[in-house]
Amino acid sequence: MLNLFEMSEIIGRYGSGAETGAGARARVHIETFGCTANAGDTQKLRAILKRSGYQLVTDYKKADCVIVNTCTVTKRTELNVVKRLEELKKQGKHVIVAGCMAAAQPELVKSVLGEDTIMITPEELYPVMDFDFGFDKNSSVVGIIPISMGCLGECTYCIVKRARGRLKSQSPDRICSALRSAVAAGVKEIRITAQDCAAYGFDCMDTAVKLPELLRMLTEVEGDFRIRIGMMNPFTLLRIIDELLEAFESDKVFKFFHIPVQSGSDKVLSDMRRNYKVADFVEIVRRIRRRFHYCTICTDFIVGFPTEDEDDFRASLQLLEEVKPEKVNITRFSPRPGTEASKLKDMLARDKKMRSRMMSAIYHRMALEANNQLIGAELPVLVTERGDKGGVIARDPSYKTIILEGDLPPGSFHKVRVKDARSTYLVASVIS
Ligand code: F3S
Repeated sequence: MLNLFEMSEIIGRYGSGAETGAGARARVHIETFGCTANAGDTQKLRAILKRSGYQLVTDYKKADCVIVNTCTVTKRTELNVVKRLEELKKQGKHVIVAGCMAAAQPELVKSVLGEDTIMITPEELYPVMDFDFGFDKNSSVVGIIPISMGCLGECTYCIVKRARGRLKSQSPDRICSALRSAVAAGVKEIRITAQDCAAYGFDCMDTAVKLPELLRMLTEVEGDFRIRIGMMNPFTLLRIIDELLEAFESDKVFKFFHIPVQSGSDKVLSDMRRNYKVADFVEIVRRIRRRFHYCTICTDFIVGFPTEDEDDFRASLQLLEEVKPEKVNITRFSPRPGTEASKLKDMLARDKKMRSRMMSAIYHRMALEANNQLIGAELPVLVTERGDKGGVIARDPSYKTIILEGDLPPGSFHKVRVKDARSTYLVASVIS
């Protein structure tokens, strides 16, 4: 386990050089790739470093040491990470590598940066439950709390299992106390995250606390905040769906359901070893929509899995049109080292590209049609961050992205009227 002292030792090796001056503390810059869970690990790293007196800098050029918190979920991400490591090396930076690549592909990291590269794995960071909820330059009021690490599955294509291992859940007390400190620090949007949030607690057979009960405990914490629950696998979600929907009734919970289906073909789901059928996913969505008329169903598809033929792909398109998810993430399959699916014959890149373009076009058309229906609607929103190009970003109760003009303070609640729509966001003006 990595503790504050060890961490401090690691960074301290770069802290007494000529650049920083005798006795000075190192200036550290952190770069983050990947998912919300990884961003949560970055919050932990920031907290550890700050407590140990290090200076966190936003410009990597001014840093004595750069921590790259890596992701390796697809080949494309892997290439982006490697490119960045090479750039930093070329510029003579001291680089520490954290995240999933450090755990799943340490040899690759060493081949780029050298044998003695210091690495911090997600496993080492997992026990730490200190977070830096300080606001960044964009005054985001978002805080991330990982509730568990790893999963119960054995998906044939997934490298994350190698990086994050079997399911390990944090205790409900530690999670509640993290939430209390986030709320005390002014955080308004809490992102509860895990590789599979619905699996929470299934590793601890001695406690009855699963995700529905945890969510009830979290919503009982006093304060004006909203909770967004992260990804939930259909396989585990099926086991808790009724109790979970009950817990989602709280006004403090965004009606946002991220349920990755991955394929609309039972044959491909079985080859992926997803442990559910398409009909299970459809049933989950049906129950959610019956209970929450206004909600966001977000799902993920992998297109071009090696055994996906034309009919399988058509089945995915059909599922998309049937379920009409409000948000869809589409990933082209890429073989990941050490996985079972990497031994199968890969599809031609141009075929995968064609399929992903086709699916993406259907999704964007459907999403735009649905969002257009909302023009004129009045919605309550929470402003969560400033936009890169001016204005602010807000979230409605179903976690839709709403762009507002003007300089409203992040953390404020408003009523808005939707005046325009795109496939991935709405534009609105403030009423009050
Ligand atoms: Fe990437 Fe690891 Fe997240 S591989 S998607 S950072 S769990």
